[in-house]
Amino acid sequence: MKLWDRRFKDRKEDPLLEKFNSSIEEDFFLFGAEIEASRAYARALNRAGVIDDDELKRILTGLDRVVQRVRSGVDAKKFEDVHTLVEALLIEEIGETGKKLHTGRSRNEQVVTDEKIWLRGKVIYLIDLLVDLQRTVISVAEEYFDVIFPGYTHLQQAQPVLFSHYIMGLFWALERDKNRLLFSLREIMKLPLGSGALAGSTLDIDRRELAKSLGFREPSENSMDAVSDRSFILDVLYAVSMIALDLSRYSEDFIVFSSREFRFFELSDSISTSSSLMPQKKNPDFFELIRGKAGKFLSYFQSLYVTLKGLPMTYNKDLQEDKIPLFNAITEIGELIVVFKKCLEGIRPVEEEILSRMDTFMLATDLVDYLVDRGVPFREAHGIVGEIVYMAHKEGKELAELSLDEFKKYSEAFEEDVFRVFDFRKSVERKRTYGSTNPDRVREQIERARNLVSK
Ligand code: ARG
Repeated sequence: MKLWDRRFKDRKEDPLLEKFNSSIEEDFFLFGAEIEASRAYARALNRAGVIDDDELKRILTGLDRVVQRVRSGVDAKKFEDVHTLVEALLIEEIGETGKKLHTGRSRNEQVVTDEKIWLRGKVIYLIDLLVDLQRTVISVAEEYFDVIFPGYTHLQQAQPVLFSHYIMGLFWALERDKNRLLFSLREIMKLPLGSGALAGSTLDIDRRELAKSLGFREPSENSMDAVSDRSFILDVLYAVSMIALDLSRYSEDFIVFSSREFRFFELSDSISTSSSLMPQKKNPDFFELIRGKAGKFLSYFQSLYVTLKGLPMTYNKDLQEDKIPLFNAITEIGELIVVFKKCLEGIRPVEEEILSRMDTFMLATDLVDYLVDRGVPFREAHGIVGEIVYMAHKEGKELAELSLDEFKKYSEAFEEDVFRVFDFRKSVERKRTYGSTNPDRVREQIERARNLVSK
């Protein structure tokens, strides 16, 4: 079914070429948006004096009937795209008046309008999912607030922290992800409709009014830019790929830290799987799948980016290829967030195991601080403790196992109270700065986090 078939006299339909040109299988998800935009456009035509009240009424009821027909099942495949489908069915339903709906309108502006209508709802939905996940992060942090945890750099034990501090790191990553989505909404909320094919419309359409009626903030500023712009989709695809990246990073931690070598986390049975061969296995499949699926979100971004980068102004059929990355990314990331949330609820830090893996070398920096407090310049103190660490390793001892005499060989500043340094909890409490792992700071951090998600 073509809207433009009278342009040609002897055009033969080649089924393969027709199918290649068509996008109905990829853009049918825009059906609801197409109906919404068509209703608003019909009203704008009425306000502009192009159709009278009676014609408007007929178009609106016609569009309702199109919705019913599609619900009860039509052979959508015979239409070139979702825009063609709606207009053709409308004409089938109400005849001549239906042919007026497309006055001054182009599919070039329809497609990008529909995408924005669809996307704004989805972006808000994703933001809700992120907030939900953030709330889960807060409750996990609160449940295990006091558990001591080894902080790593280079995957080598670095300094002790609170588990709650460690897990709250995810909260702030998600907060940035949320802000990226919010940023994308600013452009999404500019309405392209009324831009025509590229140059604008000769009709007296009040685009500001049209934008308002469709729930957009304002009309787009430049008709040529409006029909060629897909950067708002790239913004969302980037934001989505960053969500995947953040979920993947923490998934990696949960996978590694639940292995037998670490045993920091016990995974509940419902978020674990086993093996068809090895009966003892308890596998973290869900976290692995999140980590595994994360990469493809970047490929969605990349494929659209490459589609756009060489395009001349303005609309080009290449743009039809934006549907698959858009639709897949949005639906798949929603699933990823929900699965991750369920799995996060199923992890339990096991403090005895964690503490049994932490040695007092993690407090070497605290030992440096001890000397600094007693007037030794930092670089000197750092060097002294470096030598002590070297010696302790050589003798197969932990820092806390050295005697005061041994300490004193390296600096006279060491006193009996040096042994008070070797306490993980005290180490955490000695941190003072805003944003640090000090329990009071973490409590304040959680309070600020809670305010951010309570609105
Ligand atoms: N199916 C097309 C797309 O998704 C709609 C726009 C078609 N415009 C055109 N001039 N052929 O991009």
